[in-house]
Amino acid sequence: MATFPVKRLRRLRYNPGVRDLVRETLLTKNDLIYPLFAVPGQKIKKEIKSMPGVFQMSVDVLVEECKEVEKLGIPAVILFGIPEHKDEVGSGAYDPKGIIQQAVRAIKKSTGKLVVITDVCLCEYTSHGHCGVLDGERILNDETVELLVRESVSHAEAGADIIAPSDMMDGRIAAIRKGLDENGFNEIPIMSYAVKYSSGYYGPFRDAAESAPAFGDRRSHQMDIANAYEALREAESDIEEGADIIMVKPAGAYLDIIWRVKEKFGMPTAAYQVSGEYAMIKAGGRNQWIDEERVMIESLIAIKRAGADMILTYFAKEVVNYLDKNR
Ligand code: PBG
Ligand code: ZN
Repeated sequence: MATFPVKRLRRLRYNPGVRDLVRETLLTKNDLIYPLFAVPGQKIKKEIKSMPGVFQMSVDVLVEECKEVEKLGIPAVILFGIPEHKDEVGSGAYDPKGIIQQAVRAIKKSTGKLVVITDVCLCEYTSHGHCGVLDGERILNDETVELLVRESVSHAEAGADIIAPSDMMDGRIAAIRKGLDENGFNEIPIMSYAVKYSSGYYGPFRDAAESAPAFGDRRSHQMDIANAYEALREAESDIEEGADIIMVKPAGAYLDIIWRVKEKFGMPTAAYQVSGEYAMIKAGGRNQWIDEERVMIESLIAIKRAGADMILTYFAKEVVNYLDKNR
């Protein structure tokens, strides 16, 4: 093995062309999934205070947004819905005329190959803001799973291309797979939020989706932030139950988990750069404490380098601008 002065690692950093040749990790448009929030009404475009540049949009505005996203070359969006009415059992989630069902139909009608992913959970639709049906303060697993199946099938009926359950109930992937198959949707993939931590980084999202729990927290179903081997068990069971893509969430503080999951299972792996990660970079940028664009790209390259094949990020449109500018 050569050593210095024969070996000089700086040779490969010699000029931009050489650096381009040896770069190991590439971030491209094709890696991006853009999250969007649908609300009832018309001509509504309301910015989320804690997420500059992210808006709640009524379906008409959302359709225009999706056309632009498609034109930019972003392959996919993931939709979250805020219903007209919330109730104890989250009826709005599986209403055939619900907000997501309307949004999916309208978007599919006015776009071409844009992949429309729908988030499946109940917390945006329940009056108490919990991810499932309650018995007192306890979330009932199996009763909740039944409703998640209904929600998933109704999203598929509306035209969703991929179903993404984010609830963390046990056994929901198998149940949703069965429900989809029995209703003629055996070609629709499931992107499972397989490894979802009970994280403080979801704060701004709960403003955007108006889904903060009225009492307590999500620790009885989302994972303990301290656990890594448990992440592998979660991923394994979702894969066994039929998940096609597995997700780790959040991303930036869980790069080790993305790495382990990708190494161990070799599955198509998604990572969610969540609302709090976005908010912190935006805040730093706005205060001119950090170079926002540089840190944005650095954060996303890190997530890819850790093993993610695709990234859900509120920066998706800004990334495309950056990539187009720096071609
Ligand atoms: C719903 C859901 C959440 C997020 C995605 N789906 C919030 C939560 O679990 O409280 C968070 C996304 C983000 O923070 O950007 N279960
Ligand atoms: Zn939820």
